[in-house]
Amino acid sequence: MLVRDLRRNIVEQNRRNRAVARDGAWAGHAAASREMILAGRARLGAPSPRVLVLGAGACLDVPLRELCEGGGRVRLVDMDGPALSQAVERLPPGLRRRVDVRRLDLTGGLERLGATVAPSVETASATGLAALPNQLASFHFERPAFAELPSAGWDMVVSSAVLSQLIAFPSDAILARWVAQAREHAPRLLDPTMEDRIADQLARLETESVTAHVTLLAELVTPAGVVYLSTELLGPPAAARTFAEARAALERRLVADVPDGPDILPAARTASAAVAAPFSILDRRTWLWDFLRPGVAVGVAPQVFAMIGWLLAPRAPTGQSDALPHPATGEVAV
Ligand SMILES: C[S@@+](CC[C@H](N)C(=O)[O-])C[C@H]1O[C@@H](n2cnc3c(N)ncnc32)[C@H](O)[C@@H]1O
Repeated sequence: MLVRDLRRNIVEQNRRNRAVARDGAWAGHAAASREMILAGRARLGAPSPRVLVLGAGACLDVPLRELCEGGGRVRLVDMDGPALSQAVERLPPGLRRRVDVRRLDLTGGLERLGATVAPSVETASATGLAALPNQLASFHFERPAFAELPSAGWDMVVSSAVLSQLIAFPSDAILARWVAQAREHAPRLLDPTMEDRIADQLARLETESVTAHVTLLAELVTPAGVVYLSTELLGPPAAARTFAEARAALERRLVADVPDGPDILPAARTASAAVAAPFSILDRRTWLWDFLRPGVAVGVAPQVFAMIGWLLAPRAPTGQSDALPHPATGEVAV
């Protein structure tokens, strides 16, 4: 039951996203994302690059047609099968054979997570409900889908706005089910200490899933390849009442040094630290993403996010420094 909810939450959210995107709200984000992906593609020497798109969805923010037209082969990966089908159907028929799709869970663990926490959220027993923090603490993600995602198999790996979602909707589903059960069967458990213990574990799972995803990107790309990674950097400013106010506040905020500061969203903070070891940063850009189009969102809190995108190149493995010799001394920095 819970596992099904974890999946359904994501697919439902995607369906709503696609409706919103059809309204034109995603245009600015999609343009910025597509431009960075094509800049990454242009850096590749390979004549027919193999491109892997993680969290591809319906490829609203991915230039799928251009990636195929370049003579390459593209694999699209997502949990949402209907979204992947839409992405392929929008291609001219002659390009469709250049694409294959895989319906996969990129955390490599949603099924197991559902099974692990089920005894604490599918129960009326107070003892069972009280065990949730410990059950979460015993859970760790594993590398997903070795067969479908071979290591060092891709000239370009794209991870477009999936990072923050990997665990967000599953976490919401677990928490909502636990609170509903506790309210009905063990209200004394609804205290701040218990809430903090659960929140701490869910935050740890988010950090682990984001770090594991960045590690996976480094493992998947070829040594001479390129990675594009994007995620939400800042959420809608709390004080903003209109889209114009929200956009202005985020634009002012982006002038300051990024990605730093207490307001940075957790996935972006973790990713920013995690990319430093396996990758050199080729480019880093920020932009705004209107999640709802202002005209259709009267009376709704302004849903504007600041996004961050990185173009990354794998560092040489330890022992094969990729640092350039000093021009005067010929020494190589370690
Ligand atoms: C905000 S959308 C990104 C937009 C998407 N690139 C597009 O252009 O339509 C996030 C995508 O991540 C996918 N996703 C979320 N969690 C996932 C998981 N655990 N495994 C695989 N895909 C996941 C969703 O299904 C969704 O398509």
